[in-house]
Amino acid sequence: MNTSLAKSFSFLSCLYVLNLSIACQTSTTQGPKLEKPTNQADSAMVVSAREEASKIGLQVLKDGGNAFDAMVATEMALAVCYPFAGNLGGGGFMVYRKANGETGALDYREKAPLASTKTMFLDKYGHPNPALSRRGSLAIGVPGTIAGMFEVHKKFGSLPMSALLKPSIELAKKGFAVTENQSEMLNHFQKDFLDINKDSILFSKNFKQGDTLKNLALAKTLERILKNGKAEFYRGQTGQKLVEFIAHYGGILSLEDLKTYEAVWRKPIQVEYKDLTLISMSPPSSGGIVLGQILKMIEDYDLGALGHNSTTYIQILTEAERRAYADRSFYLGDPDFVDIPVDSLLSDDYLQGRMSTFSFESATPSKEIEHGKIIGYESEETTHYSIVDQFGNSISATTTLNGAYGSKLFSDDLGFFLNNEMDDFSAKPGVPNMFGLIGAEANSIEPGKRMLSSMTPTIVEKNDEFWMSVGTPGGSTIITSVLQTILNVHEFDMTMQEAVNAPRFHHQWLPDEIVFETKGFESSLLDSLRLKGYTPIQQQSKILGKVDAILRLPDGRLEGGADYRGDDKALGF
Ligand code: DON
Repeated sequence: MNTSLAKSFSFLSCLYVLNLSIACQTSTTQGPKLEKPTNQADSAMVVSAREEASKIGLQVLKDGGNAFDAMVATEMALAVCYPFAGNLGGGGFMVYRKANGETGALDYREKAPLASTKTMFLDKYGHPNPALSRRGSLAIGVPGTIAGMFEVHKKFGSLPMSALLKPSIELAKKGFAVTENQSEMLNHFQKDFLDINKDSILFSKNFKQGDTLKNLALAKTLERILKNGKAEFYRGQTGQKLVEFIAHYGGILSLEDLKTYEAVWRKPIQVEYKDLTLISMSPPSSGGIVLGQILKMIEDYDLGALGHNSTTYIQILTEAERRAYADRSFYLGDPDFVDIPVDSLLSDDYLQGRMSTFSFESATPSKEIEHGKIIGYESEETTHYSIVDQFGNSISATTTLNGAYGSKLFSDDLGFFLNNEMDDFSAKPGVPNMFGLIGAEANSIEPGKRMLSSMTPTIVEKNDEFWMSVGTPGGSTIITSVLQTILNVHEFDMTMQEAVNAPRFHHQWLPDEIVFETKGFESSLLDSLRLKGYTPIQQQSKILGKVDAILRLPDGRLEGGADYRGDDKALGF
């Protein structure tokens, strides 16, 4: 991570902790069980990063729309009122489970432009230049969000597109109130906005909490999209303007890139864990496979007996995470470009073999762990929202610009930021990206290829019925945050909100360290891990993820978990 990014991430964390300490003062309990009250509803719920977006999604459900309609409305509302990660200029993934039990996944991930090359981020000495893959025009992958929304609507929508887009158009025109978190983030990035855009942009001002932020250019773009459909973004006036805008800043994204972009329906990863069935995102996300591998590696342990966030619990999760992330690094990439041995990577025999070197006595150093041997192949920003409708359909969707405000390149004319998703490729094998993740050939840059993701939108079934919809932002820490949230409910009987609030930790093979949130872990616990050869890291003001989730209670009612680490909100009826 370069210094400025490291700073922005720790600054980001700082803001959340600032808010957390305020929340703590009004709380009556200590530890994980605090902040937001339990959110329950009879039959339908939307949980997202902003109250305005949850409200807009919920209204669509109240108007008789289904979870897929509400998805489009919520995603577009986030694009308006959560410019940090909500987007038209990025992409995402969605996993669904229909009331009849049918499951599937949509990939609206960005792609490398056709003019991109494997070495485009290397300098003349062959060293990656993170400034190029993270900031400005070359960092931009071909945006997939609008294609994704139209694809969902075409396949599953029940209300007209106008009912789904108009609330966001109105929101962009009327404006929304900037939250304290938002004002601090926007103010923090003022210099970057100016440096990268070489001019002031809509967001160039000193924001205060409660300021009204309108985005008339985005309202106009959405109106044109409503009138002309998906083609407006991928070949119409909006597309033309976008290509010209990016070219003006020296970028390579062409009209051909836009014209050939398609969102793709994928078969989700399905994994059995004890009495649960997980349905999670398949490649080009690593989320489902890595989550599945970890769960399979820990399945034989009585985690409840080890104790929540005990030394032994942290050890077993860490060792499974270490091994799974080593495989991620080597094997995973865009399935349209590389063969991925999915079945082998998730097979019981293989995973038992991987864990054979684990012992509670001491850590397995990451340098002794490589990717496993497979015999033969089978032929910081993001936001997550979960929706369950009154008909029994559920979706889990994670959408992103990658870093905060993506590449920071903002089209004043079109009203949105462009992603910096190209940094999710492995610019050079063995050299870490923004999230410290190391990739190999499978995730090298190729024209038209999708960059490997960690986004893990997940739906969990219990007894063949919907049980949980869960996901989070957080780059490489997404998978382990989703994992711990599921385990918190399943193994430790927490409510959905408690499970979301509970302190989290993370290991990703390399660097060989366990990162802990600042709050909720005693120094004696970290000492006990040190004694066993682990390297715990507990930086000031660290948070991991912002999980949003919905749980179906035994009586059929729904309980939301909206992460107190952000401005997230669960609403239902
Ligand atoms: O797809 C990925 O894995 C990343 N682009 C996600 C980025 C992210 O979660 C940033 N949020 N903290």
